[in-house]
Formats: sequence, structure tokens, C-alpha cells
Amino acid sequence: MDRSILEGDPHSVLEGMAIAAYAIGAQFGYIYVRAEYPLAIHRLRIAINQARELGLLGNNIFGTDFSFDVEIKIGAGAFICGEETALINSIEGGRGEPTVKPPYPAQVGLWKKPTNINNVETFANVAPIILNGADWFASIGTEKSKGTKVFALAGKVNNVGLVEVPMGITLREIIYELGGGIRGGKKFKAVQTGGPSGGCIPAEYLDTPIDYDNLTALGSMMGSGGMIVMDEDDCMVNIAKFYLEFSCDESCGRCTACRVGNKRLLEILNKITEGKGEMEDLEMLKELAETVRDSSLCGLGQTSPNPVLSTMKFFYDEYLAHVRDKECPAGVCKELLKYYIIPENV
Ligand SMILES: Cc1cc2nc3c(=O)[nH]c(=O)nc-3n(C[C@H](O)[C@H](O)[C@H](O)COP(=O)(O)O)c2cc1C
Repeated sequence: MDRSILEGDPHSVLEGMAIAAYAIGAQFGYIYVRAEYPLAIHRLRIAINQARELGLLGNNIFGTDFSFDVEIKIGAGAFICGEETALINSIEGGRGEPTVKPPYPAQVGLWKKPTNINNVETFANVAPIILNGADWFASIGTEKSKGTKVFALAGKVNNVGLVEVPMGITLREIIYELGGGIRGGKKFKAVQTGGPSGGCIPAEYLDTPIDYDNLTALGSMMGSGGMIVMDEDDCMVNIAKFYLEFSCDESCGRCTACRVGNKRLLEILNKITEGKGEMEDLEMLKELAETVRDSSLCGLGQTSPNPVLSTMKFFYDEYLAHVRDKECPAGVCKELLKYYIIPENV
């Protein structure tokens, strides 16, 4: 979602950054982009040079005493480097690991100076709000979440891709109207929002208006704006395992809760999907997931158990089927597949 803004309209981000810098009295900005996005970096470089030539970046912008310039910092693609304090450490040349907050970056940030960190989409929204007015922006959306939001719609829907929608639209409208419904006429099972640390939302909440608060209340989040649709062929235990594998890989290892806790969670999920799970494992899984959520140092560990907790909450019957009946209802977990010989067909 952010990559496409950087590739498609890099000036919108530069303009938002320059306005933000003017508002807070900053003279320098960084754009942190992972090296795996070369087109975004290439187009950003062109845009930065154009802006400098036009006097929109650099010294004494528009002949005023306001000076502001921007540098691109290319990251090595670590998920943790999106966390604010890890991002600051990475720009400073240190390890991409988070630090304890407070102090928050706004107090002690990059090079120990007050620092404002915002998302690409946030910056891209700034100029239109100033041009059209805050009332215009606030007229779109819900009471607490204003404006529009870009989602990266993916998974088992007919139309995948980026969709920009007003806040407050329902999940059903996105999936069935914009997404064109479930692929192959299959049955909807869940939608996972917010990226790897989001939760899985079942069919009974399809009519929930999407905003920051509602997604959090459902055990998910807005996060990166990812929206992955799952159908009847997806095993929710396997899905939880898939996301947890990502969090284990991406945990920076700084705090024990995240480094060790996520590993132990993954071990339990492996045991369950291999048909070796016991009822006590389910209790341990929930308790440990809550402990990792409550005791991790940063947002990565605090949210990485979301896929486990939300699937346990909404799809507990699937966990029971794996553990008690040694069955995978969706037929995904290989060790739990049963093979029969149909005599008439032999
Ligand atoms: C593990 C982790 C990864 C993150 N990755 C990103 C990211 O890739 N891009 C991003 O804009 N924010 C990311 N964030 C959130 C940022 O730390 C920060 O809160 C956000 O950019 C603030 O911008 P906003 O208030 O404009 O949304 C991440 C947070 C965490 C905990």
C-alpha cells in the first residue's frame, strides 16, 4: 500500500513531509524504504531532485527562512525496523532493535532530537486536507476515524489489489462489492486485517463498519492495511501457525517474551497441526499468547499473538477438532489427513 504511493505519487509524500516539518520546526526528514522496493526508491530520488530544482526542498523554501531537506534511508527489509525506536536505531547505524518507551521519539528521537514519525499514507493525506479543509476530510469516515483508507485486498476474493475506501465501510462491502465475492463461489470463512500481527475476523462480523476502534475491539487492527480473505478451504490453526512463523523469523530477539514466547507458541501449534496436541496444550497456548502480548517490549511482540488469540476465540471448534478428534476439518494439515480405500472403485 505504501509502496504504491511512493511509486505512484512520491511528491504527495514529500509535500506532506515538508508541511509537517514546517509545522514542527524540523529541518531534516528521512524516508525509510526497504531495499526490496527499487522502483519506489528510483521514483523517490527523481521526485526529490525535481523538488530541489523547483525550490520546494532545500534552503529558504519559497524565499522564506524555512529550510528542509529529505534523505532516503534504504533498509534491509526487517519488519522490526518499522517500529519507531528500532527505525531510529537503524538510521543511526545501530541494530534495528526497539528501546523502552518513554522517552517517546517526540521527546528523544533521532540523534537524541525530538522526532516525528509518520506513515507514508498519513503524509500523502496532508496536502489534500490543507487544500480542501479539515471539514472536508472529516466529512468522510466515522466519528473517530476520519477520511479514507487504502487496503491491500488479497486472498480468496475475485478482485485483488489496492482499494481506497471511506472509513466506516463494512467488511462485507469491501469483500463482496469491491472484491467481487469469494473466488470459485466458495464460502467465506474469515478475513485477516492489519498485516502479520492482525487478527482473523469471522463471518458474523462482516457488517462491522471498519475503523481503528472496531478492528481493535475484534482482536485485530488496522496495521499496515492488509486484508486477506480466507474461505472454507483454509484451516484456521494452520493460518495462525503461518503468521506466527513470520513473527518468529522477524522477532529481533531483544526481549525474552517475544524471542522465546513466540517460539514456544509455534512449537505448540506445530504439535497441534501434526496431530500430537493434547487438551492442556490449548490452555497453555492461550495463556502463553496472552503473556507474550502483555509482556513484550514493543508492538511486534505485543501483537504477534493476535492471529493465535483471534482464531482461538472465533474458531475454537477447529482447534478442538485437531486436538480431540485428530482431524483437520479443512483438510489442510497433512498429518491429520485420513486415507480410505473405496472397495467398489478398486
Ligand atoms: C513491528 C512493527 C512494524 C511496523 N512497520 C511499519 C511500516 O512498515 N510502515 C509504517 O508506516 N509503520 C510501521 N509501523 C508503525 C510505526 O512504528 C508508526 O507507529 C507509524 O508509522 C506511525 O505513523 P501514523 O501515525 O502516521 O500511522 C510498524 C510498527 C511495528 C510495531
